[in-house]
Parts: sequence; structure tokens; C-alpha cells
Amino acid sequence: MKVDILLGLQWGDEGKGKVVDVLTPRYDVVARFQGGPNAGHTLEFEGQKYVLRSIPSGIFQGDKLNIIGNGVVLDPALFKAEAEALEASGHSLKERLIISKKAHLILPTHRLLDAAYEAAKGDAKVGTTGKGIGPTYTDKVSRSGLRVGDILHDFDRKYAAAKARHERILQSLGYAYDLTEPEKQWMEGIDYLKQFRLVDSEHEINGLLAAGKSVLCEGAQGTMLDIDFGSYPFVTSSNTICAGACTGLGVAPGKIGEVYGIFKAYCTRVGAGPFPTELCDETGEKIRALGHEYGAVTGRKRRCGWIDLVALRYAVMIDGVTQLIMMKSDVLDGFETIKACVAYRMGGEEIDYFPFDISEGVEPVYVELPGWQTDMTKMQSEDEFPEEFNAYLTFLEEQLGVPVKIVSVGPDREQTIERYTEE
Ligand code: GDP
Ligand code: IMO
Ligand code: MG
Repeated sequence: MKVDILLGLQWGDEGKGKVVDVLTPRYDVVARFQGGPNAGHTLEFEGQKYVLRSIPSGIFQGDKLNIIGNGVVLDPALFKAEAEALEASGHSLKERLIISKKAHLILPTHRLLDAAYEAAKGDAKVGTTGKGIGPTYTDKVSRSGLRVGDILHDFDRKYAAAKARHERILQSLGYAYDLTEPEKQWMEGIDYLKQFRLVDSEHEINGLLAAGKSVLCEGAQGTMLDIDFGSYPFVTSSNTICAGACTGLGVAPGKIGEVYGIFKAYCTRVGAGPFPTELCDETGEKIRALGHEYGAVTGRKRRCGWIDLVALRYAVMIDGVTQLIMMKSDVLDGFETIKACVAYRMGGEEIDYFPFDISEGVEPVYVELPGWQTDMTKMQSEDEFPEEFNAYLTFLEEQLGVPVKIVSVGPDREQTIERYTEE
């Protein structure tokens, strides 16, 4: 068997959590491959709303196995809070969630370093989620990180050494802090983690594939936040792209099957950094209000703009997307016209590819399409789609060269419409 991969094609928050939940019944296993509690994946069903940060979004569908892979960075304190909240709402996890021993631990001092580095950057700050993501991946790459497997042997010594190293950096930055309470919660989180099956998840996944089990890999963030191909340096610190599933789970490239690429019918981004199609006007406000574009975890305002097909074409190429999924189509209900950026104008030239640097002097070139004046939220099949919406879909498929197989018309599990089903 091969693994299928589901990932965001924009700057995150495309609706990955919802779609993983919708697709989970077709799989035996769901596995997260990168990122950490910087993610906030929202699911809605039966009138309830859940936001997942480190736990895979397959956790609500029956007895599927969920895996936190080696590419993930885990904060034990936040993990404990998330897991206990799920248990309290009747969703048991202990038998259905396994965690890679090779996943790196986010220490309380990593969070402090995240804040200290951001403060030191002044106006150039990234606008991180403050969860310690960058410093944890930095320690991983500089070969001084602590991994989940380390909690099983001689942990106090390893923790003390890492903490002392971090404290020296914090002191050199003149950053004031009090570790007492965060450290206490973190240590409780470490004890809590020991109740789970801690495994070499690469063996588990490859064993499951060999036994004919189907695996869905869940990405966090989005392609434009990728450490290599995103809008650097305003990115996260992991490979959010398709290849991230290979390194983040130990799955060989030849084992990749379908790649589901998710995007919103428009575009958003949280935090700082370039965003060529951003609308700092009434239209942007309108999209934010209709789409409830506020961070799932931080509550931060998401910046809103029109769809950027230059960036999306790039993401489709980098990720090898085989099927597209369009989210939040309903948010554009009632717009008289809709714009789509098909090229950038830079230095007097028009380009249709994603360039090295989009931080300055990029002007979007738009195509304007008629909007639809119909409420899409109750639609159940594509036969009900308004003509203008179909024209928008056809236009996007032509521009991106990949079929849009799923259209989402609301946050609920049920508000999901499949296309090309008769094939
Ligand atoms: P993720 O990080 O990619 O999982 O996305 P988030 O959960 O951060 O943000 C997506 C938001 O849009 C959540 O509040 C979802 O409940 C909501 N959502 C998902 N799909 C749709 C949709 O089709 N229409 C509307 N109106 N909301 C949606
Ligand atoms: P999901 O999985 C949207 C953004 C932050 C910041 C940058 C770096 O819910 O789509 P970090 O804390 O990772 O060092 O922050 O990346 N960012 C996200 N934006 N959705 C996310 O996750 C994000 N995770 C990080 O806002 O600009
Ligand atoms: Mg999110």
C-alpha cells in the first residue's frame, strides 16, 4: 500500500483538520508528520467544535490508529492539556494514539527563546505563534535536541544540561523569566506521556503498509510557510511540503500515492511577511468577517486577500498535488465579482512563476470573474452549484492543471461535496 498525503497549499489554516476528519473513514491510520502546537486544526460535527494542535485529526472517527510522527515537535504540557480535554469529552486516546520516540520535545525554555528571539528582531519579527517551534527545530538540526525517547532513560541529566544551555542564551539576551510554573506543568506532561505507546513509528508505518493498511498523512501549516520554499524568512521551521511526509514519518518517496492539496477559495495569512494579494480595505474586512478569519488557537486576526494562483501553481508543482480540495467556498457567496491573481508585475515585467523574493514591488495581475448570489451552505451535490461558481471552478482547474475533487461549503463535516464521483 501507499500513503496518501493531505497538506495546505497556502499560508496555513486552509481547513486541513476538517478534511482529514472527513476522509478518515476511508483509511486505517492517520499520521501527523511535522509542525507542533503552532497548528490549530478545527473540526465540527454534531454541533460540537474541536481544535486540535498536536493530535492528528483522525481521532474522532471510530477506532482508527493515529500516529504522531518523528517530524513533529511535541510540548508535553500542551499535549497533556489537549489529550485530557479530549478524554473529558468522551474521546479516549490511549489505545488509539502512538507517538514516535524520535519526535523532538519542546522545552519550556524553547518557548522563552522563541519570545526572546522575536523581541530581539524588533520590526523584523516573524510573528510566530510563540510555541517554541523555531528554537526546537534549531536544536534538532544543531544536534542538541531532546527526543520523546529520551524520557525513558537518564532524562533528568539530559534535561538539566539542555535547560542550562538555554538559560545561558536567555541571560545573554537579557530576557527576564520565571520558569517555576511552566516547568512544573511540563514535568507533569512528561509523566503523562509515559502512559502512551512510544514507538519507532517508521517501523510501525512501514509494517502497516506491508500488511495492506491504508495511511493518510496530515500536514500542518501550508506550503507557503515551508522552511525551504515558503516566503522565507517569514515561514515556520519545518518542511510543510509533500516531501516532509517522507522525512517526518520515514516513508520512502516511492510509497506516496495521492497528494490532496487544500486551498481556500480566497487567501489568508497570520503573522508577518509578504502577501501579494492582501486586501487592506473593506473587501478584506468583509472576507474576514464572513469567513471568521481569526486564529483557531491565538485568536489573532488573519490577513485576508484574493486567491493567488501564482503561489498556488508553485505549491502544486512542489507538492506534486494529484487532487485539489477547495475550502470556504460559501464565504464568497454574495460577492458581485471575484478576483484571482494570475501573474505578478515586478520591475515593469509580468511574470507567471513564483520568484525568489516577493517581499517588495510585487503587484498582482488580476482576472475578474462574476460572483454568485446564492447561499451554498446547504448544498448537497454539485448539481446545485450556481453557474458562476462552476465557471470559477473550471477557471481554477485550468490555471492549476489539477481537478478540484472536493468542495467545502461550511465548517461542518456534512458540508462537504465530492465531484467526479462517477469515475
Ligand atoms: P487548518 O489549520 O487548516 O485545519 O484550518 P483552521 O481550523 O485553522 O481554519 C479553518 C477554519 O475554517 C475553521 O474555523 C473551520 O471550522 C472553518 N472551515 C473549514 N471549512 C469551511 C468551509 O467550507 N466554510 C466555512 N465557512 N468555514 C470552514
Ligand atoms: P495550521 O496547521 C497559520 C505561522 C505563524 C508565523 C509563522 C512562524 O493551523 O495551518 P511558528 O510559530 O511556526 O514559528 O510561526 O508561521 N504559522 C501558521 N499560520 N496556520 C498555522 O498552522 C501556522 N503555524 C505557524 O503565524 O507567521
Ligand atoms: Mg489552523
